[in-house]
Amino acid sequence: MKHRVVSVFGTRPEAIKMAPLVSAIESSPNLTSSVVVTAQHREMLDQVLDLFKIEPDYDLDIMKTRQSLSEITSNVILKLEQILQDMNPHLLLVHGDTTTTFASALSAYYQKISIGHVEAGLRTWDKYAPFPEEMNRNLVGPLADLHFAPTSKAKNNLLTEGISENKIFVTGNTVVDALKTSVQPQYQFQDPKLASLDLPSLSNRTTANKKLITLEVHRRENWGAPMKNIFKGIKKLVDEFQDVMVVFPVHRNPAVRETAYEILGNHDRIILTDPLPTRDFHNLIARSYLVLTDSGGIQEEAPSFGVPVLVVREKTEREEGLKQGTVMLIGREQERIYQESKKLLTDKELYETMRKQDNPYGDGFASSRIVSAIEHYYGHKDAPEPDYKVSPV
Ligand code: UD1
Ligand code: UDP
Repeated sequence: MKHRVVSVFGTRPEAIKMAPLVSAIESSPNLTSSVVVTAQHREMLDQVLDLFKIEPDYDLDIMKTRQSLSEITSNVILKLEQILQDMNPHLLLVHGDTTTTFASALSAYYQKISIGHVEAGLRTWDKYAPFPEEMNRNLVGPLADLHFAPTSKAKNNLLTEGISENKIFVTGNTVVDALKTSVQPQYQFQDPKLASLDLPSLSNRTTANKKLITLEVHRRENWGAPMKNIFKGIKKLVDEFQDVMVVFPVHRNPAVRETAYEILGNHDRIILTDPLPTRDFHNLIARSYLVLTDSGGIQEEAPSFGVPVLVVREKTEREEGLKQGTVMLIGREQERIYQESKKLLTDKELYETMRKQDNPYGDGFASSRIVSAIEHYYGHKDAPEPDYKVSPV
């Protein structure tokens, strides 16, 4: 008998990280795969569905301009109920920490459907940072039957909360699986603005005449004053260093776009684009001297390319990158953003210590470990794949 697995996701990062897993489930002789998208994001989700050629079985199409958290939560729960009754899956998979993740898990729980949580166990232990992601991820913990922790640190967090060890599988992060074939030396950018730029190559990104900084800032806790400070710090840096160019693919959220265009628009070395197709984005960061971001996923991707990352947040649930050394947490103060970026442009020794090309988040085989654990759970296999081993941090 094949077991029915439904993957539910709704935003860009969930889709990027679930795509390799959906493909691995489809390849399993013991499982059937279905996909439901909430479309908490619309255009930014569709970009990823197109790239990975995923055709959802159901699309809840919930996105509204400037949607509130309550709207997302209630619409997902209301719209998912009938669909889950019709599909009657054995297992529902959710990913990470979005409001789609939490609401879908709650909806599955109401119908006594087993839940698998991919990218489980990351914590800052501060319920407002990141907001609301810390609690979204945390609340799925007690609802889930299977926990796919990307690292042993995440597993330890779950153990601390009383989750049974036999329900936790350390798999690595599927985001590393998605990077395998993305970056190529002769890559042709699809985005017309990027295609027209003279960007550094993979081999001369640290020595090129123009140093490329990729910027991506969008999180709720940075809206308003913190975001203005971050952008002002960057503007000061670019005005001082004539050999620096910034590319910022601006999130579609109006709260981000208004601030970005107000402070960084109309500058000849600051290029604001629409959100990029994911392969374009991977090839952009791989050609960058430095990445400045509040994104979770980008913190996990950049170490694969040995590109230093400055994280403009007060706290991160991804400490492995800090310990490994490619990532530095610098807060949201304008002067600190300017000073820390400046140091990386001028202090070669510091820059070289942050350039380690070694990803602590995975080895590219997370999806197959997750499928193996699901097959084991349903009795198709004696033992799951061995845990992904990272040095404990
Ligand atoms: C969401 C997640 C966040 C994740 C981010 C990834 C929650 C609460 N937040 O935040 O964890 O880091 O996605 O990008 O789950 N919009 C569009 N088109 C799109 C996408 C968004 O127009 O394709 C606009 C809409 O006006 C929408 C707004 O952006 O209302 C905000 O989207 P929302 O999903 O609520 O929040 P994000 O900040 O994107
Ligand atoms: N990304 C993308 N296009 C862009 C910017 C980012 O495809 O213009 C990808 C990036 O490679 C990473 C993911 O989006 O895989 C991160 O998503 P996001 O920053 O929106 O959310 P977070 O990870 O912070 O939840």
